[in-house]
Amino acid sequence: MIFTLTCFMFLHTVGNPASCVSPNVHDDQLMSNQSLRGMSVGNATNYECSNCSNQTSNQTSDNKASICSYENIIDHLGLTKYKDRFTMSRPVKDHKNKTVIYLEMEVYAILDVKETDQTFIAYVWIYMDWGNDYAKWNKEDFCGISAIIVPSEALWKPDLTIEEMIEKDKSPPSPFLKIYHNGTIEFRNDQIVISTCKMHVYKFPFDIQSCNISFKSYLYGENELDITFQENSTEITKWSRDVMATEYEWVFVNMSVFNTTVNHFEFPQTVVIYTIFMRRKSVLHFASFVMPVLFFLCLDFFSLLMPHNGGEKVGFKTTVLLAITVMQLILIEILPFTSSKIPLIVIYCNGIFGLMLLSLLETIVVNYLAEKDSASQDELKEGFHCASRFPEVANKSPFTDQEGTNNQLTKIFLAVEKVSDELQEMKKSVTFLKEPKPGYWTELAKRIDKFFSVLYVTAVLVFLSVLFAKWLT
Ligand SMILES: *[C@@H]1O[C@H](CO)[C@@H](O)[C@H](O)[C@H]1NC(C)=O
Repeated sequence: MIFTLTCFMFLHTVGNPASCVSPNVHDDQLMSNQSLRGMSVGNATNYECSNCSNQTSNQTSDNKASICSYENIIDHLGLTKYKDRFTMSRPVKDHKNKTVIYLEMEVYAILDVKETDQTFIAYVWIYMDWGNDYAKWNKEDFCGISAIIVPSEALWKPDLTIEEMIEKDKSPPSPFLKIYHNGTIEFRNDQIVISTCKMHVYKFPFDIQSCNISFKSYLYGENELDITFQENSTEITKWSRDVMATEYEWVFVNMSVFNTTVNHFEFPQTVVIYTIFMRRKSVLHFASFVMPVLFFLCLDFFSLLMPHNGGEKVGFKTTVLLAITVMQLILIEILPFTSSKIPLIVIYCNGIFGLMLLSLLETIVVNYLAEKDSASQDELKEGFHCASRFPEVANKSPFTDQEGTNNQLTKIFLAVEKVSDELQEMKKSVTFLKEPKPGYWTELAKRIDKFFSVLYVTAVLVFLSVLFAKWLT
């Protein structure tokens, strides 16, 4: 009655019938709530009419303020009055209706990747929205308010969890959620996800890791809750790349998303799985590990030019080999013991170590041979030296002494000299039978060394090229 009266009066003053619209009260709840708050429907009429024309009095603008506030919507929905009803159960008018959750995730930062613990820590932004059949209003009734933000405990929220998460998020959850007039509820949350991720260090440090973040409900089955993603893989990759703040020792490569149905405990549930691909920043590892080993290898190559006499070469090669051992010790600290396949970097290190070890052994053998030759030459020299003593004695004694008395002695000397010469001759022929010529062993050692050096360098080059071809692809 009051409404018609006001309208009538208004019609008289403004003279425009179209400007007076009846208040669009679509719900009984609104009426009751408004009367509860001591508002008359007439006030609403005033507002409606004033909304249509610019001619408003001071009093109508006061009334306008009283219906344009968020509280009106809260009262209209009964959010405070029926609090429990809003939070207890899935907000659908028919239980057969599914609640569809649109999910979106962006990676804001890659904080840590621990190969030894197999954990992946990332800071992610999560956005989700779903429908609530009870949280709706007509925005024309409330000054065009299309959305309100309320504490997140006020409404039902899906019980989504991240399957891989192994530690509770320490950052406080987002305190608010947004209700749109059409019943869409929007919830955003930024959180640190400490998740377990199976790492493959086979190609370390040139490896690409992929870690999953899967969203699943604790209790709702497939027939009740449908989780789906809003944007495709290329979109989320682009967004994440744009917002990425820190990447630790990784380069964000891309991100993919798909949803599927899993059947844990004979209970089908939908899951949305985000996979984050990242490549290790390998430059530092290359410079601080792979390169030094190559330098040591070069040093070992150049040691091939060193002469064989003495143990110098052996000493030098052993030192280089020990340097490689130090690098191996460093390697043990970096790599996890979880990989079933031997990582290529271990093969690289051990392969080079093994080849250098072979080269050292060869040097020892060659040294031994050269030593043997010089030893036999010493023996020969000694033999010659001994033999040369006798002619000295033989030349001197017969002529310096008296001829008569020493005649017999001279004869004996001459006989001994003859025997000695023969023995010398025999010895020479015997030794020459064994060793065709002096320096035979040195010659052999040189030949072995030359052959082995070529073999060694080729083997190392082949090994390295095969390894790097496998490593870098
Ligand atoms: C509800 O409104 C919001 C904001 O205008 C929009 O983003 C959303 O898609 C709407 N939801 C439905 C189910 O129409």
